[in-house]
Amino acid sequence: MNASALPLIAIDGPSGVGKSTTARRVAARLGWEYLDTGAMYRAAALALHRSSTQLDDPEALEALLAGLDLEQRGTRIYLRGEDVSEAIRTQEVTRLVTPVSANARVREVLVDQQRRIGQRGQWVVDGRDIGTVVFTQACCKVFLTASPEARAHRRFLELEAKGQSPDFEDVLTDLNRRDKADSTRAVAPLRQAEDAVALDSSEMSLDQVVEWIVARHLAHR
Ligand code: DC
Repeated sequence: MNASALPLIAIDGPSGVGKSTTARRVAARLGWEYLDTGAMYRAAALALHRSSTQLDDPEALEALLAGLDLEQRGTRIYLRGEDVSEAIRTQEVTRLVTPVSANARVREVLVDQQRRIGQRGQWVVDGRDIGTVVFTQACCKVFLTASPEARAHRRFLELEAKGQSPDFEDVLTDLNRRDKADSTRAVAPLRQAEDAVALDSSEMSLDQVVEWIVARHLAHR
């Protein structure tokens, strides 16, 4: 690890690639902390929705962001002290979060919070812009990908396991929509950092991905 690098592993990549599960497992393997930045954008979207705050009303948005009290404890996320871990995973929030996460002011406030959290300790952080914007000095940057079909297939199995009857084409269409929105937005679009290593996990198991990242990190310390 060079002198200016932070003890921080950044895992970026598209929706449905398994970043959160991977990042949590890598953190557990190393005894590091884990930060889910997607959950922060989701909680912000939920807060906006509940208070009917419009993104195009700057004063209302500012007031909401000033009172946005987010906290992650372990794998749970709290909004003003309320555990919203399940509430942020609904289809509705998944739809609402796209415009919220594309808003420059929302990003400014959340990126600032993420930097304050990551300042101390050793972190595995997953998101879309961790290696390119939030923690450019991370000691290890991974750009985790998988084909849209492989990601849609995993998502399909997850939904089935939850007792739902998903339609594969719908799942794939939704993933493609999110990919496009994340990678074409004006502020902090999803892209691979120049110093990130890309890992295509289409043909890999979760265990293999976790071990690959841990080995890469240990080899480059
Ligand atoms: O990873 P996820 O699906 O929980 O992310 C939720 C949304 O937040 C998704 O639309 C992408 C966005 N996001 C972002 O723009 N930047 C991040 N660092 C993390 C997530």
